[in-house]
Amino acid sequence: MPPREQWETFFDPAAVLKALGCRRLRGDCIEFGCGYGTFTIAAAPRVSGTLYALDIDAAMVNATVARVTQASLDNVVVEQRDLCVNGCGRPDASACFVMLFNLLHIEEPMDLLREAFRVLRPGGRMGVTHWKVDTNTPRGPTLGIRPRPEQCRDWAGQAGLQWVRYQELPGSPWHWGMVLERP
Ligand SMILES: C[S@@+](CC[C@H](N)C(=O)[O-])C[C@H]1O[C@@H](n2cnc3c(N)ncnc32)[C@H](O)[C@@H]1O
Repeated sequence: MPPREQWETFFDPAAVLKALGCRRLRGDCIEFGCGYGTFTIAAAPRVSGTLYALDIDAAMVNATVARVTQASLDNVVVEQRDLCVNGCGRPDASACFVMLFNLLHIEEPMDLLREAFRVLRPGGRMGVTHWKVDTNTPRGPTLGIRPRPEQCRDWAGQAGLQWVRYQELPGSPWHWGMVLERP
C-alpha cells in the first residue's frame, strides 16, 4: 500500500459509497480488507447496524482502530482476519452490504466472492472497486494481476452473485466500480 496520504488522494470515499448504493443501510455491513479505514470512516454513519472492518494486516487494523476511535464511531468492529483462510466470522445471510474494494487481485479471489455470497442475506448487495486496466494509473498492482470488471463479474457469477451494474465512481478517476447482489 502507498502511504495513507497518497492513497487517499485517489478516491472520494463518500461519493464512491453513494454511487455503489452504500447509503442508509438497514442491517450489518462487512468490509473485506479495510486497509487504512479510508472507506470505513465514511461508511459507518450510513449503516444502521454494525460495520465489521476486517484486514489481514495488523498495521492496517491498528490504523483503522485509531481512526474509528478518533471519530467516536460506536458501530464499527475492527478485526484482524485472513478472509481467505478463516472467512469473515459472521453468520450466514447476516449482512445487508459487503464492501470489497481494491482486493480482487489476490491469488484466490473466489474465496472472497464465495464468502461474500455466504454472508450476504438474499437481496443483500456488494460494492466492488478496483484499479482500471485500460488507462495509465499513478499506482496499483501490476497489469498482469489487475482484474478487469468483466473478469470479476464472471467470478462473482460463479460464486452465485448476480451482476446488477457497472458503476462510474465520481471523484475516483483511476478506479472502476460494480454492484452485485445475492439473489
Ligand atoms: C489495496 S488495499 C485496499 C484497502 C481498502 N479496501 C481501500 O480500498 O482503501 C488491500 C487490503 O486488503 C488486505 N488483505 C489482503 N489480503 C487479505 C486477506 N486474505 N484477508 C484480509 N485482508 C486482506 C490488505 O492487508 C490491504 O489492507
